[in-house]
Amino acid sequence: MALVNSGTPGKLKLGVLISGRGSNLQALLNATTAPDFPAEVALVLSNKADAAGLERARGAGVPALALPHKNYADKPAFEQAMTRALEDAGVQLVCLAGFMRLLSPWFVDHWRDRLINIHPSLLPAFPGIDTHQRALDAGVRFHGCTVHYVRSEVDSGPIVAQAAVPVQAEDTADTLSARVLEAEHQLYPHAVRLIAEGRVTVEGNRAVLAGPLPLPATALNPTPA
Ligand code: GRF
Repeated sequence: MALVNSGTPGKLKLGVLISGRGSNLQALLNATTAPDFPAEVALVLSNKADAAGLERARGAGVPALALPHKNYADKPAFEQAMTRALEDAGVQLVCLAGFMRLLSPWFVDHWRDRLINIHPSLLPAFPGIDTHQRALDAGVRFHGCTVHYVRSEVDSGPIVAQAAVPVQAEDTADTLSARVLEAEHQLYPHAVRLIAEGRVTVEGNRAVLAGPLPLPATALNPTPA
């Protein structure tokens, strides 16, 4: 199914789920200030009342709501409350941006192909946590980040877009994660734009992109002298 813009004013309505600092949320909010960006943030939800990202949303004049998971009897009640809030806001695409709760199969199925995540590795390498240290330990020459549709298995699902970040000999997990985070801030709005323009179709395990798209040059790391 391809998602296309609907409703007024013709922009895809995003719901962004956060738990913390919200730098990827900020990247999305920044992107939406461009008049030609085909999506807008309709609602920010956090499962933590003190998430810094809530202030970023309010600063941008976007509705922001804390729904602390601890206030709900169980996961179904929490996820139904989130879904109600998202649907009341007319959300068409849910973007996970550092949302630190595992989502149930019910939620994932309810929002199937309308739910995306950003993960700090080149999936399917390094799902889960500590991706930067694990990339260094594995000695990979490229690390990066992935925007993908969400399926029930952790950090799996059709890949929309990826950014490759060369690993430097002197990298620590901190220096590498800082460069990957910069790439995340470029990649997430780019992937959302592709979806909002109706150029992404999920076919089985793959997300297929429509139309000719510019390709980056092949990168070698290390680069021949
Ligand atoms: C990012 O590294 C993202 O890839 C991961 O969680 C982190 C969230 O950071 N899923 P922020 O809250 O967007 O700054």
